[in-house]
Amino acid sequence: MAIILPLGGGKGGSGKTFLVGSLAALLAREGFRTLAVDVDLGAANLHTILGVPHPRLSLSDFLNKRVSSLADTVVSTPAPLLFMISGAMNNLDIANLAHEQKMKVIRHLVKLPYDYILLDLGAGTSFNTLDFFLVSDYGVFVTTPEPTAIENIYRLIRAVYFRKIRKALDTHRFRNLAREAEERNPLAKVTNPDLLLAVIRDLDPERGEQLARELASFHFKLIVNQQRKQDNPHIGAMICKIISRHLDLKIDFLGNVAFDDRVHNAVCKAGLFIDLYPFTQTVHDLRQCLRNLLSLHAETDRCQRYGNG
Ligand SMILES: Nc1ncnc2c1ncn2[C@@H]1O[C@H](COP(=O)(O)OP(=O)(O)O)[C@@H](O)[C@H]1O
Ligand SMILES: [Mg+2]
Repeated sequence: MAIILPLGGGKGGSGKTFLVGSLAALLAREGFRTLAVDVDLGAANLHTILGVPHPRLSLSDFLNKRVSSLADTVVSTPAPLLFMISGAMNNLDIANLAHEQKMKVIRHLVKLPYDYILLDLGAGTSFNTLDFFLVSDYGVFVTTPEPTAIENIYRLIRAVYFRKIRKALDTHRFRNLAREAEERNPLAKVTNPDLLLAVIRDLDPERGEQLARELASFHFKLIVNQQRKQDNPHIGAMICKIISRHLDLKIDFLGNVAFDDRVHNAVCKAGLFIDLYPFTQTVHDLRQCLRNLLSLHAETDRCQRYGNG
């Protein structure tokens, strides 16, 4: 089954599309069959980054039932092993997907035969964005080093985490227990996961342990993009620390990606930055982020197969 990597940011312009395109291209170059999907339907432009100026088909063909399977909307890109589903819409009304449509996309998405599927998500904490984080235990979050972007990314990560907890609690195993926990202590809510878990553990140690394991299975990652020389290189690690302290959520920092004016040139030429400017700090950083991501996945895989010991 594919590893699905939803990539989101709190703010438009942080570089989600650039990172999805670049990381997908690097994964394909490593020999992984990779699919990049543009789910930012209001501002779809992944096709341009991937050098496919006029995609023959797009997600709208699936949503409007012009094709019956999501797999039929996949188009190839100039790069070997790299495929995409464009979000370019003829009809802008569809920018906000109805819940049913989204669930249909998700149901089809998880069955597609790729090694990696990267999702380019819209900005912010709208339900449109959050639901796509639920398809996977892996979520990649992108921010720039600006305080406003950092504020927004913190809000997005918190919203995704709470939504994942809510989804776990909404299963028959935990539903009654969560209700009992809140009756015992009104502060034991989703928005207070530490306390909620402690009360649930007290009520039912076995299920409490199960829930703790489930919450620990979320592997969130952070990338700081458009890092300039004058920016503090430790901002990413600091954000992760704050998140783990305030939300009790482990989030791994994958690295900084340097700002480079030539990203603009690559976009204008509709070519891949990693091909046009391979010897830049930015490409070096992208490769490092990918290496960190792959080694974290390998570690997670090992722990899941053989336990933590
Ligand atoms: N590392 C970078 N260096 C320089 N410019 C960048 C970098 N990453 C993204 N950009 C530029 O920032 C703008 C927004 O990037 P984009 O990927 O479209 O963001 P988003 O998808 O988050 O809205 C684009 O003009 C892009 O060329
Ligand atoms: Mg974008």
